[in-house]
Formats: sequence, C-alpha cells, structure tokens
Amino acid sequence: MALIDRHVILEKSPTLLLAVSLTVVTIGGIVEIAPLFWLENTIEEVEGVRPYSPLELAGREIYVREGCYTCHSQMIRPMRDEVERYGHYSLAAESMYDHPHQWGSKRTGPDLARVGGRYSDDWHLDHLIDPQSVVPESVMPKYGFLMEARLEGDHIADLLQTHRFVGVPYSDDQIANAQADFRVQADPDADWDDMLERYPGAAIGNFDGQKALTEMDALIAYMQMLGTLVDFSTFVPDATR
Ligand code: HEC
Repeated sequence: MALIDRHVILEKSPTLLLAVSLTVVTIGGIVEIAPLFWLENTIEEVEGVRPYSPLELAGREIYVREGCYTCHSQMIRPMRDEVERYGHYSLAAESMYDHPHQWGSKRTGPDLARVGGRYSDDWHLDHLIDPQSVVPESVMPKYGFLMEARLEGDHIADLLQTHRFVGVPYSDDQIANAQADFRVQADPDADWDDMLERYPGAAIGNFDGQKALTEMDALIAYMQMLGTLVDFSTFVPDATR
C-alpha cells in the first residue's frame, strides 16, 4: 500500500482522526507560540513609554469600571484608513503597562488610543457631562455624576503596589510619593516639578474646575495622556532601524 493510501485508515476511524489532528495542531501551536517566550524583542522597548501617574492610573480604573471599553477600542490597526483617521498605528510597547489591556474590537465610538491632547480639558468636561451638547448625534451616555464622586487617594499607593506586583516597574520613590503626586497633578498651583520628573509629559490641570479632587479629574487626566508618550516625529520601528 502506498503511503498516501494509508490515509484511508485515518479517514475510517473518527477517533484516530481526531487524535492525529490534535497532535498536528499542537505541534503547529508550539512552533508558533513557544519562540515568543524566549524572544527578547517580543515587546520592543520604546523611548517615552512610562508607567501611569497615580492620577492617570486612578482615571484608568474608572474607565474600566464604567465600561468605556464596551464602546471604545484603544488600538489603532496598521491600515491606511485607521492611520489617517487616528494617527500612527499603536505599538505593543504603548500598552505594556496596561493591566488589563483595553485594545478592544467594538467601536460604537471612535478609537481612543491617541485622543490625548486632541481636545481641551474643557471639551472633555462638557463632553463627559453631556456628550450631545458637543456632538448632537452622539449616543454616548452622560457621566456628569463623576463630578460628585470625590477621590481622597487613600489607597493610591496600594494601587501602584498592585501594578508593581504584576510587573509594572514602579520604583520605591514613586510608591512613596504616590499620594502626593496624585494630588498635585490636579492642582495647577502646586509644586509639581518632582511629579513631572517621575512621570514626564503628564497633563496638569484642575480638570473639572472644582476645588475637590473627583473621579472626573482622574478620568480626564487619563484621557489627556492617551497615546502621547511616544514622539512619532523621531520614532523608527526596530525592523527598519
Ligand atoms: C454607548 C457607547 C459609549 C460608551 C459606553 C462610551 N462612549 Fe465615548 N463615545 C461614543 C460615541 C458614539 C462617540 C462619538 C460621538 C461623540 O463624540 O460623542 C464617543 C466619543 C467619545 C470621545 C471623543 C473621541 C473623539 O476622538 O472624538 C471620548 C474622549 C469618549 N467618547 C470617552 C468616553 C469615556 C471616557 C467613556 C466612559 C466613561 C465613554 N466614552 C463611554 C460612545 C460611547
């Protein structure tokens, strides 16, 4: 019997066919996946990418809690229509400190991976309070209640610790100053030089215009940094370097 004819044996026994198919798929899977565990450059390090500042991280928690990801993705795919609309395609490194990541595939609203700096703080405030006041046809819900929810930041150092536990390289200095950094980022009159040294490029401002620090401040601080860390005027992808 020629080798090819022996295939009949497999075709006649569903159990054997299943077992052999699984073996083949397993080998294929290992060949594809295993090298990623040893490749140094699975995530290319990119200049400018840093862990979130305490206020940004708190804002990110609110983003996840409110389920913004059910309508918004945070990954610009490397296709022409996407890049023309949203900017440079997303790099793996840009979400290397995201736990959990917010890539998403559902876009009832636009991708937010590079929304930072595109609008003013006031625009975000108006938009979050009443999206239809700035985009009349918007189906986005209102989030004005975030203005009422005060944030004391009592657990902010613990939050940074937790992220360090899963691999975000927060330094002891960053954790020790978490509570202070958290406050000064939302206070334009404070002395925030040290905070900016720890978190270059963080947006500073009294985002919601109220004296108290609220969830709204944190969320806008997070919105304003999205996609702003890498300088794409000088960035060269590894493959072409
Ligand atoms: C039910 C779906 C839905 C949810 C949930 C939702 N959005 Fe939106 N969002 C939209 C739509 C649709 C738009 C486009 C129209 C507009 O600008 O309002 C939008 C627009 C935006 C924009 C402007 C983006 C741009 O590039 O113009 C931002 C910023 C934004 N949303 C933030 C958020 C945040 C933060 C949350 C969670 C607190 C959230 N959205 C929750 C549907 C949603």
